[in-house]
Order: sequence, then C-alpha cells, then structure tokens
Amino acid sequence: MSNRENAIHYVKNNYINFESTLVELVKIPSISTSPIHQKDIRSAAEYIQTLLLKIGIQETKILETSGHPVVYGSYVTQQKDAPTVLIYGHYDVQPVDPLELWTTEPFQPVIKNDRMFGRGASDMKGQIVASLSAVEAVIQTGKSPVNFKFIIEGEEEIGSPHLHEVLETQAVLFKNDVILNPDAGMISPSIPTIVYGLRGLAYFELKIFGPDHDLHSGLFGGVVHNPAIVLSELISGMHDKDGVITLPGFYDEVLSLSIDEREKLSRLPITEEDIRKQTGVKELWGERGYSHIERTGSRPTLDVNGLLSGFIGEGSKTVIPAWAMAKISMRLVPNQDPEHVHQQLIQYLTENMPSTVSWDLKKFAGGIASMANTSHPGVIALEKALEKEWGTKPIYKREGGSIPVVAEMQKHLGSDSILTGFGLPEDNIHSPNEKLHLPTWRKGILALVHFFYEFAGENENK
Ligand code: BES
Ligand code: MN
Repeated sequence: MSNRENAIHYVKNNYINFESTLVELVKIPSISTSPIHQKDIRSAAEYIQTLLLKIGIQETKILETSGHPVVYGSYVTQQKDAPTVLIYGHYDVQPVDPLELWTTEPFQPVIKNDRMFGRGASDMKGQIVASLSAVEAVIQTGKSPVNFKFIIEGEEEIGSPHLHEVLETQAVLFKNDVILNPDAGMISPSIPTIVYGLRGLAYFELKIFGPDHDLHSGLFGGVVHNPAIVLSELISGMHDKDGVITLPGFYDEVLSLSIDEREKLSRLPITEEDIRKQTGVKELWGERGYSHIERTGSRPTLDVNGLLSGFIGEGSKTVIPAWAMAKISMRLVPNQDPEHVHQQLIQYLTENMPSTVSWDLKKFAGGIASMANTSHPGVIALEKALEKEWGTKPIYKREGGSIPVVAEMQKHLGSDSILTGFGLPEDNIHSPNEKLHLPTWRKGILALVHFFYEFAGENENK
C-alpha cells in the first residue's frame, strides 16, 4: 500500500478516537470574550498542546501574549525538501447566551442524528480536530510528505487583538509555504468549498446619555428627549430606503465587482430559498441592485448586534431611560479601512446628533477584508484533494464572515492562506444549538490527508 493509502486507512480506523478527542475539547468552555473563562482558555490551550504531542508533533510551545496564549507546534519530516504547511486554528468560542434556547448543555457535547451538538463543535474545534487527525494519520503511518507547523490562537472570536505580538516578534517560527485555514465552511454536505474572499469587520459600541437618572415619563415626557428614541433615529438613518449605507464616504473605497466575477457568482448553487430556510425569515432584505450572494460576500453591510435601554423586565414601567446603548458593526470588503469607517461613523454621529443628549463611541477590534490568490499551488492541491473525496470539483466562493488574521499573516509573514472547512450553513455557529455534521467532518479529514500529499506533489502510488 502507498503511504497515502495507509494514512487513509488509519483515518477510517480511528474515527471513534477522533470523535472522543473532539468531545473532550468541546467540553472546555473557552469563551474568549469573558474574563471569567480565563482558566478555561488556558486549559484549552494546554489540551491542544498535549494533543499535538500525542499525535507526534516534535516541538510544541505555548506562546504568551498580553491576551490569551497561542499554541505553537512544529514537525519536521525525514522526507527531503518537503514543503511546510502551517495550520491555523482558534480554540476560543463565542458566548452561549441565550442559554435557555439550547436543547442540550453547550459544553456537554451530545451526538444525535449524526451531529455533534455543543458550542465550538463546528466553529472551530471540530475543524481543529479534523486537521490534527489528518496530520496524525499522515505522520503515524509513514514518512510525512510535508513539514507541519501550527498556530492555534485563543482570541479569534474577539478579533485577534494580540496575535500580532507573536507574528511580529517570532515570524521565523511560522515560516511556511502555505497556511491551511479550515475556519471557513462549505455550502452543503455534497459541495466542497474553497473560500477565496472574506469580509473585514469594524465594531463599535454607541452610548447615548439623556437625563442623569431614569425619569417618570408622565412628569418629564414632552420636555426631556428620550435617548432610546434618539438612538433608534440615528440607527434608522444609517440605511436609506434601498438598503444603502448612508455614512459619509462609506462606499468611496469599496472595490466594485468585475463583470466576470458577478457572472461566476451568479452560477453558484445557492438560492434565495436556501437562505430563507437557513434563517427562518419570510423574505430577504438588502442593498438594491445586488444579488443575495453578492450582498453577503462582496458588498459591505452594517448591522446592529445588540440594543439596550430602559425597562426590559416583565410588565410595564413608565420611565424615560437615562441612557441607550447599541452595538453596531460593519462587514467590510476590499479596500475599506476599519479606521476610515470609524471616522465616517463619527462624522455621521456628529452631523446627526441632536444637542439634547451626549454620547460616547467605543471601538472594538476588527480587521480588513482578504482575498486569496486562487492560482496558489495550495489552492490547486486543495481543489484536487476535495475533488478526490467528494467526487466533484469544489466551488469557489467569497464568505461574509471575517477572519482578520488572514490579512495579518499576509502582512507579517508574507504568506497566503487557503480557506476551507467542513462546517455547514445549518450548523448554528455563534447561535444556540451549534452542531457539527459528523459524516461531512469525516470526509473532511480524508480530504485533508489527500491535501498534504497533493501539496507535496506525491502521487497516489508512492
Ligand atoms: N469561522 C468564523 C468566520 C467564518 C464563518 C468564515 C463562516 C467563513 C465562513 C470565525 O470564527 C468568526 O466568526 N469570526 C468572527 C470574527 C470577528 C469577531 C472579528 C466573525 O466573523 O464575526
Ligand atoms: Mn471560527
């Protein structure tokens, strides 16, 4: 049997072990945004480090940052002149609220109907374990065709605010020929996907201050401007009737789509009906003049992610709230700059804020959009690998989600990332009842084994 066949057999004989590794990892509540989970973050990093050692990675380290730690690993094969694949992952997860909407415990993974339920099962602990399982198979069954490096961070879900510290100071550690980033999903279980573009992100918290305490709305309604109303008006002014964002200069830097790309995107097998099913909405919405596929991947958007003001308990209470708060974020496309968007938001607020209130704007971490070079040898190898496993060529698509480190790694390491993943649109990532479709995940492991051999240019029979 060839090395590749041996590795494929190894995977097929070890699904149960890979699954239990994933169960253990999902059990760790490594929520990066909340300081309460500091210890869990550390346990997840240590769990990954132990796992790297267990699968045969020769050198591992936990690299400290001023935020959460980064797990590093390096494996050098005996094969001469082998290329190096750097595998990127994040072991942190999103918060679980609203907890009452979960039908199982978010950190007690349960397998039902071929799916594993739990926070992070799909985004992206499942993808980390898929990658490490493929690596394990390749190095445990023969001479690995490639060298491996690992960079597995704990702050992706909060915009990777400290990863640049290790990228800047330890760039040599991460030298590679390609970065494999399995943090982007696929469009359906039968259609493997290569993601060639991601959106960037700018994220803000806006607070409007009215009276210095909550007021009786009977005594003061009519003389005090209600900050919840001020905030609502500001928010509703951020789009016009055509779904176009009104911040001054917002579209100035937006790179428009070429006719050729629009034509290719229009052929993707994703319908409006698919999106209605995934989301449960009656009708889609968005910027006039662009298709649903263009609007999620290639056009910038603005959303309110959270809204808080006044009395939100049961029943009624007649107050004019003292303040109102909104979390507002924009998904950005090439060539928009999050700092310019920040300035545009400030200008919009300055021009439209009534003089009856005061306000404060906080900026959170974000990042720029990224586009992949689709003729990179890594992309070509991945295309072949996915086709081997699925029996059909992958589709190429832009994703609306953000992975700001893709651009950061391009900047600091000069290396390209290839983006794929084995999560599905139905996985409920960032939502209650996150899940992972195990049959697709298992195929993903096999495809990654093929990828390593294809990238090294090693043929089937060696
Ligand atoms: N894995 C996602 C991003 C993603 C999802 C890309 C699906 C492609 C397809 C990632 O973990 C994520 O959610 N990122 C955050 C980044 C933000 C907090 C800076 C996002 O997009 O909201
Ligand atoms: Mn992710």
